Amino acid sequence: MDTDPGVDDAMAILFGLRSPEVQIEALTTVFGNGGVARTTENALKILEVGGRGDIPVVPGAAKPLLHAYHGKGSTVHGADGLGNTNLPAAKGQPLNARAAEYIVQQVMGAPGEITLLAVGPLTNLALAVSLEPAIAHNVKQVVIMGGAVDHRGNASPLAEANIHNDAAAAKIVFHAGWPLTMLGLNVTHQTVMTTAYVEQLKTADTPVTNFICAISQFYLNAYRTRDGIDGFFVHDSSAMAYVVDPTLFQSQKVYVDVQVGDARANGQTMADWRNQWGQPPNVNVCTKVDADRFLKLYQSRIM
Ligand code: BDR
Ligand code: CA
Repeated sequence: MDTDPGVDDAMAILFGLRSPEVQIEALTTVFGNGGVARTTENALKILEVGGRGDIPVVPGAAKPLLHAYHGKGSTVHGADGLGNTNLPAAKGQPLNARAAEYIVQQVMGAPGEITLLAVGPLTNLALAVSLEPAIAHNVKQVVIMGGAVDHRGNASPLAEANIHNDAAAAKIVFHAGWPLTMLGLNVTHQTVMTTAYVEQLKTADTPVTNFICAISQFYLNAYRTRDGIDGFFVHDSSAMAYVVDPTLFQSQKVYVDVQVGDARANGQTMADWRNQWGQPPNVNVCTKVDADRFLKLYQSRIM
């Protein structure tokens, strides 16, 4: 799992740890909701909260391929990336390795077995498939939270944050020739976790539910202030949900391209539904989720 924790990354990781369908082999980290030192430290903390400090954490890219890291995630996730909860430092240490190389080793070492689940900017995946293009044919599947098909953006009017953060990397990943499933804002906006939902989780009173409730407060407030809604859209956990139970989703294969560099459209994901560009489909785009069933599944796993 490639991640930039991040409140919703944390919720997705814990969901994965509690789901028997999934075995998390490692967390590779990337800049995004904080700098990579911060997201790496947060990954270690989250695994420790989940009682899985044995899972390796491997640091990855510190910046996008073509430009500097802008560091805007703190307005939604807090300066510490975990809702300004300022938890004590993690006990564990990251591996002395690099995410892109580690991804190559894992995929090539277990042909057809590894799912790459990416819920941050796609820089590590782009670097990995550039180092070793053969991973495209040896990975089981690639599942990403990113983009927005026929839907408004969040980082800009046209672009979703993970793609906007490194559009060039996204373009490489979208055209790498691997089985790629995309959970963009068009589907993640269909599921909302309200304040009442988070409070309900808290009644279990476990370290995991108390942690989720604590880190969610800043995130709920950001949505209240910015979007005027009670609750947050469920981004990264939607991608984990697809890995856990793809029958929650409807999807369709289509050709999708990524806009790179335009002053306004940078990071836009453009789907060619009528095949007017004459290209073969490269992305399995999730279009609909059974939100009620997803919310019940998340609750049952976490509680
Ligand atoms: C994505 O951006 C990040 O802020 C979240 O963690 C999620 O991966 C949503 O656009
Ligand atoms: Ca994320």
